[in-house]
Amino acid sequence: MNESSLMTNLAGIELANPVLLASGTAGYGLELDGLLDMSRLGGLILKSVTIEPWAGNAEPRIWETTGGMLNSIGLENIGVEALIEDVLPRISEIGVPLMASIAGDTVRAFARLASRLESTGALAAVEVNVSCPNVERGGIQFGVDPNATAAVTTSVRENCTMPVFVKLSAAASDLPGIADAASRAGASGLSLINTVPGMAIDPVSRSPRLGNVTGGLSGPAIKPIALKAVYDCFRATGLPIIGGGGIYDAGDVIEFLLAGATAVSIGTATFQDPARATKIVEELPDAVTAAGATTTAELVGRLRTPRNASKGKR
Ligand SMILES: Cc1cc2nc3c(=O)[nH]c(=O)nc-3n(C[C@H](O)[C@H](O)[C@H](O)COP(=O)(O)O)c2cc1C
Repeated sequence: MNESSLMTNLAGIELANPVLLASGTAGYGLELDGLLDMSRLGGLILKSVTIEPWAGNAEPRIWETTGGMLNSIGLENIGVEALIEDVLPRISEIGVPLMASIAGDTVRAFARLASRLESTGALAAVEVNVSCPNVERGGIQFGVDPNATAAVTTSVRENCTMPVFVKLSAAASDLPGIADAASRAGASGLSLINTVPGMAIDPVSRSPRLGNVTGGLSGPAIKPIALKAVYDCFRATGLPIIGGGGIYDAGDVIEFLLAGATAVSIGTATFQDPARATKIVEELPDAVTAAGATTTAELVGRLRTPRNASKGKR
């Protein structure tokens, strides 16, 4: 297999391969400089940005769990103007498609961010984060309600021409319904999944392990949840999906493609090995061959479901 077998068209964006870095897990991309060759990636999803800088949550913000990690960063970020001035010029030099991720506490804030970021001409797409479990306002409460998800999606859609990916949480009680609302409101694609709400407690001191008490779980522990979210939402909408949650190797990538993802995002694996994402790119051609295919594209949504399966219900 040659490298062109990994080429991916993600809602019109041409990627050299389907492997992206997940929002917030590689800072703004600059932090990993020298630790991995980011020009080998399919693209980079930047840390979520708000209009004004946000301070984030109380420490500690990270706790390792069995098979994963809890975080309660709370969308700490430098604000959109600093991102545009200090970060975008430098990461544009990497030469891979960049996707901004936006967050806010009002529908209008999302619209303003999308239009301001598009005006830079440096971005290939925008990811709309309506699924952060770690902030009091402007996070998951949008993404668990179909009307609020639709309102945010419509306002972003009307204020930029870039592809718009809506990032959802598996914590929504009717995730395919929310995905459908985003689709009807003009989303170009979906990003699935954000971290899963969780917590950890010190049994001796009786205190929560995170300063924010609760946080979001990521890593291998959430992979089965993420796969089902991708499978359900692909069948509900047919939209291009960036799938992620616990991906550690190329075999995991194939699983997400089969469930319906067009591209994948690597998050927590980067904390264990900063070069994990580029190693996955290198491993991918062999994994595609092992799955009996010649391109990644031909695996998308091609899960072989047993004939007697009960339509994906438990
Ligand atoms: C430390 C940390 C920070 C994160 N920050 C963001 C963020 O700013 N915006 C966002 O949409 N998702 C954020 N996420 C969620 C990841 O992008 C990803 O959706 C999630 O971690 C699941 O993928 P993984 O298991 O590969 O990490 C963050 C996750 C972690 C662990």
